[in-house]
Amino acid sequence: MSTETLTVTDNRTGQTYELPISDGTIRGIDLRQIKVSDGDFGLMSYDPAFMNTASCRSAVTFIDGDEGILEYRGYPIEVLAERSSYLEVAYLLIHGELPTQAQLEIWTAEITNHTFVHEAFKNFMQGFRHDAHPMGMLMSSVGALSAFYPEAKDIVDPQIRRLQTVRLLAKMPTLAAFSLRHMRGQPYVYPDNELSYSGNFLSMMYRMSELKYQPDPRIERALDILFILHADHEQNCSTSAVRSVGSAGGDPYSAMAAGVAALYGPSHGGANEAVLKMLRRIERVENVPAFIEGVKAGNERLMGFGHRIYKNYDPRATIIKKAVDDVFEVTGKNPLLDVATELEKIALEDDYFVSRKLYPNVDFYSGLMYEALGLPVEMFPVMFAIGRASGWMAQWLEMSIDGEQKISRPRQIYTGGRGLDYVDIAARG
Ligand code: CMC
Repeated sequence: MSTETLTVTDNRTGQTYELPISDGTIRGIDLRQIKVSDGDFGLMSYDPAFMNTASCRSAVTFIDGDEGILEYRGYPIEVLAERSSYLEVAYLLIHGELPTQAQLEIWTAEITNHTFVHEAFKNFMQGFRHDAHPMGMLMSSVGALSAFYPEAKDIVDPQIRRLQTVRLLAKMPTLAAFSLRHMRGQPYVYPDNELSYSGNFLSMMYRMSELKYQPDPRIERALDILFILHADHEQNCSTSAVRSVGSAGGDPYSAMAAGVAALYGPSHGGANEAVLKMLRRIERVENVPAFIEGVKAGNERLMGFGHRIYKNYDPRATIIKKAVDDVFEVTGKNPLLDVATELEKIALEDDYFVSRKLYPNVDFYSGLMYEALGLPVEMFPVMFAIGRASGWMAQWLEMSIDGEQKISRPRQIYTGGRGLDYVDIAARG
C-alpha cells in the first residue's frame, strides 16, 4: 500500500479514514466522507482567503516564497528580465516554451497587426468624465472587447482562443494609453506599428505634434522589463478572479475585465499607487522615523512591503531597483528615491518588519519609475495590468483545457438565522 496517505481519526465517532496524498496535497472532497451520521453533509475545510488551498494544477509559474524564487515555465525571472523581450516572455507564458527566432517574428507581427481598436472605442472612452480613474476605464474597455468580438465566446475552438489572446495582448497598451489621454484631455494617438511593444505604448501615451515619436531605448527597455516582471505570479487575487469568472465558460474578455477589477485594489495592483502617495506624504528623509513608528503602532501599513508568498525577498524588487536606476539616468533622479531608500533601510533593520518577514515587494520601486516617466499615480496599476495580461491569458488558456476544472463554487459556513417568521412591514419595530 502506498505510504502517501494521511490517516485521520474523527474523535467524534472514533472512525479512522485514510486519505491519499498526491503532490503534497489531500483532496478537499475526500474530507466529505467524514461524517457523524448518514444525514451529515460531511467535513469541509474552512480556508478564508485560500491561505492553504490549491485551486488548480498549473505549469505556468513557479514561486518559492521562502527562497525568493520566481520562474515562468521553469525559466528564472532574472534571466528572462535580462535576456528576453516582453513579447518573447508573453509567448513563453502562453505557449509553454520559448519561441524560435521565426516563431517570435510571427508572434510579434501578429500582435503588432492587432494593436488598433475599433473607432467606436473613441466614443466609448468619451463617455467617461474627465476625472475617471484610468483603471476604471481600462476595466470597462477590456470588458467592452467582449461586445466587439462576440465570436470570442466560442471558447472551445482553439483558433478562436488564440485570436482573442493576440487581440487582448495587442490592444491592452492601446486601451491603457487611451485612458491616460482621456484623463489628460488629450487626443488619442493611434498605434505606431513600426515601434516595439513598449516603444509604441510610449508613443501612444506621449506623442503630441511630432510626426514620429522616438522612444529613448533605455526607457523602452526599462518598461519592457517592468512588463516582464509583472507578467505572471501564479494564483494571485486577480488571476484567481480571471480563473473564477472564466470557469463559468464566458468569453475571455469578461474574465480579463475581472482580472483588471481585482488588480485595482490597493492590496494588489493598486499598491504602487499607494506607495507613491505614501512617499509624497512622508516627503522628506527626516520624517521617515516618525512614519515607521506610526506603522509599528498599527496606524497604517508600509505600502510596498510584505507579500503573501514571499517571506524572504521578492526577486522582482531587486530587478526593478536596477531598472529604476536606468530610467533615472535619462530622466534625472526622483527626490522621493531618498525617502524610499531610507524607509527600506530602517524597515530592514527593525524587528517589527524582520520578525514578520516583511520585505520590499515589486511595487515599492515601480511607482518611482512611473513617476519619472511623467505618469500620474492613477496610471500605475494600469501599467501593472498591461504586463499581467499575458499571465491572465496563459492561466485562462490552461484552465480552458483542464478537464479537472469545473465552475468555481466555494462552500461557506452559514452564520445567519434560519426559518424566521415573516413579519408584515407595518408591524416591524
Ligand atoms: N506594513 C506593516 N505591517 C504589515 C504589512 C505592511 N505592509 N504587511 C503585513 N504587515 C503585518 C500585519 O499587520 C500582520 O501583523 P500582525 O501579525 O501583528 O497582525 C503581519 O504583518 C502579517 O500580515 P498579513 O496581513 O496577515 O499578511 P498577508 O499575507 O495577508 O498580506 C499583503 C500580504 C501584501 C496584503 C500585505 O503585506 C500588505 O498589505 N502589504 C502592503 C500592500 C502591498 O504592498 N501590496 C502589494 C503586494 S505585491 C504586488 C502583488 O503581487 O499584488
